[in-house]
Amino acid sequence: MRQANRIANLPPYFFAQLGKRIAQLKQEGMDVIRIDIGSPDLPPPDFVLQELNRSVAAPSHHTYPGYYGIPALRRAMADYYGSRFGVELDPDTEVIPLIGSKEGIAHVPTAFVNSGDVVLVPDPGYPTYRMGVTLVEGETYPMPLLAENDYLPDLEAIPQDVLRQAALLWLNYPNNPTGAVAPLNFFERAVDFARQHNLLICHDAPYADVTYDGYVAPSMLQVEGAKEVVLEFNSLSKSHNMAGWRVGMAVGSARATKVLALVKTHLDSGIFRPIQDAAIAALTGDQSWLAERNAIYQERRDIVLTALQQAGLRARKPKAGLYLWPQVPAGMTSAGFASRLLEEAGVSVTPGTAFGQHGEGHVRISVGLATDRIRQAMDRLTDFMDKANL
Ligand SMILES: Cc1ncc(COP(=O)(O)O)c(C=O)c1O
Repeated sequence: MRQANRIANLPPYFFAQLGKRIAQLKQEGMDVIRIDIGSPDLPPPDFVLQELNRSVAAPSHHTYPGYYGIPALRRAMADYYGSRFGVELDPDTEVIPLIGSKEGIAHVPTAFVNSGDVVLVPDPGYPTYRMGVTLVEGETYPMPLLAENDYLPDLEAIPQDVLRQAALLWLNYPNNPTGAVAPLNFFERAVDFARQHNLLICHDAPYADVTYDGYVAPSMLQVEGAKEVVLEFNSLSKSHNMAGWRVGMAVGSARATKVLALVKTHLDSGIFRPIQDAAIAALTGDQSWLAERNAIYQERRDIVLTALQQAGLRARKPKAGLYLWPQVPAGMTSAGFASRLLEEAGVSVTPGTAFGQHGEGHVRISVGLATDRIRQAMDRLTDFMDKANL
């Protein structure tokens, strides 16, 4: 068997590999606590489950679901943008439902990037921004996200010769993995920059509804004129606890939406109808439970912060998202620290380098796990730090 040259440089997906090691450790009898992965542990509310049940019972709902999502789903997504962000969207030309946002993100390079084009990606950043580019033989240019810049990229530092070849700029706020948020005026600068350099901005915003301490995350589409240059990705995975359901959206630029939709029509067959109906219920139903859910995450965030402080690991207090981004002890690498914590204490965190070279020196901790288990993980972490004399 021959394998395609384009995957020669594609490393194994980090979490797939980690999963294998954890399965081995569990088989050997270790109780591993996974705070590495950003999967919400809580279910969506009953009214969403009931809608799924109602819809799944309809005999006609088991056929191919159609490429663009049912009109009511696109309308619900547009209405959500209207009520949540004050952004008006045309459900027929500015909204495309996705089978989870990762699906759309992975198809972006096929739709917008030619071989040899440059894609500007945040580093550290969600790995799929980079890997999709590798698959179409494009180049990525990492934009460092540094603490001294509040984890915002320095757009002006990108060299002109890179910009001349650049087709696309990925941004992601609230940010995974750093936990940083971006003010609207950064989004304004980014939109100006994209216009100046003829770039499409893909803004990935799945954590916009996971916020703390009263913070309200903006959409990049709130910037005037953003729709000309921005395609924003969003997802019910994190906002509505529906990660396993696979439903998300790309919204904004009508031109970009059309191109992405064209690619998708050739590569998939749409979202299972009952999931579309349940997503409509989730987006249009009572949203008050989100505040209660966020309060649970916030309590977990504070448990982790307190433990990190006790353990002598410095971390900022995130206003949004599912993650804390502590520094590892001096003299250790991210991978070394994560590996020792897993093997010696049964706590799995993600080494920062899984998100790019500028993730070195940090690990990512997720709050998407039962509060008791997070407490237990933090007890083990503080013990580990004591015993290891770190
Ligand atoms: C920044 C970011 N974007 C996109 C995704 C993908 O989400 P989904 O495919 O579940 O919508 C994730 C999931 O962890 C993420 O962290």
